[in-house]
Amino acid sequence: MRNLLRFRFLCAALAAAAPVTLLAAHAGQEGAAPVQADAPQYVGADKCKPCHNKAEAGAMHDKWAASLHAKAMESLASEAAKKLAAEKGIADPLKAPECLKCHQTAHGVDAKLVAKSFKPEQGVQCESCHGPGSLHVKARMTAAAKGEGKGQPGPLAIPAGEQKLADEALCKSCHNPESPSYKEFVFKDFLPKIRHLHPNRKEPRVKLPGEPAAGAN
Ligand code: HEC
Ligand code: HEC
Ligand code: HEC
Ligand code: HEC
Repeated sequence: MRNLLRFRFLCAALAAAAPVTLLAAHAGQEGAAPVQADAPQYVGADKCKPCHNKAEAGAMHDKWAASLHAKAMESLASEAAKKLAAEKGIADPLKAPECLKCHQTAHGVDAKLVAKSFKPEQGVQCESCHGPGSLHVKARMTAAAKGEGKGQPGPLAIPAGEQKLADEALCKSCHNPESPSYKEFVFKDFLPKIRHLHPNRKEPRVKLPGEPAAGAN
């Protein structure tokens, strides 16, 4: 419940703060609305690695890199992709917005929201699910420089909504029948394949049906 509220709050906050909505941001719809100067940018998975790939923090970058999400652009270069594209009259899936919108993070978002460090060839990256991370990276680097949390076992408490947690609806913004190779998306089967909890987290916050709905953290 708390997660749901937090997610809704975040959606509302983002909608108010930035004219690019969550869905538009990762489903690649182009919006003509102006971008606010303080809106977070997409920085790319490499920027998350220094903090989120330590073994004691769950080696999340390694887990992601081993997942199909990290290979979503390689898939678009395959023979299978060319065949699926040809059926739709598309010559090159690697250049087609009809494919990139689900296979590439930040596809179609305003260029002002994409940092120079961002590498589009890395497929479906962290920020497709967690939202653009530049402000989070900055805030955590500042906190670490001040020694906050030093020697404390993680996960550290950070302001709610600084990075969002993906839910089923977000998954379905890509895992839906618009995908030419659609496999029925069953949240309770798919989430465990990509889940990356902090090793010290007592229970997941994004719940599957049947998991205890007790308090977060
Ligand atoms: C300077 C270090 C640092 C960097 C870089 C960093 N993070 Fe974090 N992040 C943290 C810390 C510290 C936490 C608090 C949890 C913990 O201690 O692991 C956190 C928490 C999170 C959470 C959980 C949010 C919540 O509400 O609990 C997500 C999601 C996340 N980061 C995603 C990212 C993504 C995506 C990137 C890259 C764009 C990134 N982080 C880069 C330090 C960092
Ligand atoms: C931005 C679009 C996008 C979002 C959001 C997304 N996915 Fe995916 N997902 C993909 C693509 C594209 C692939 C296929 C990658 C490939 O094979 O090239 C994929 C593949 C997967 C696979 C591997 C499927 C298989 O055949 O083995 C799992 C599991 C998965 N996603 C789970 C999830 C879950 C759970 C969520 C939500 C928390 C989610 N995804 C959110 C685009 C997305
Ligand atoms: C396909 C969507 C997806 C992608 C891609 C993804 N995550 Fe996550 N992430 C999630 C979901 C869903 C959760 C919530 C897990 C839970 O509580 O069950 C989560 C949780 C987290 C957390 C909090 C874990 C905890 O227990 O406190 C961090 C930190 C995080 N992700 C970082 C990353 C980083 C860094 C990357 C890229 C290297 C990444 N994620 C890629 C969906 C994703
Ligand atoms: C609505 C989002 C979406 C769009 C649009 C999309 N894909 Fe995908 N693609 C996915 C997801 C999610 C998967 C993982 C399998 C599935 O559909 O459940 C995937 C998997 C794939 C795979 C791996 C096939 C497999 O069986 O594992 C190929 C190849 C592929 N897509 C090619 C394409 C091409 C080519 C286009 C453009 C014509 C395209 N996709 C458009 C979401 C999308």
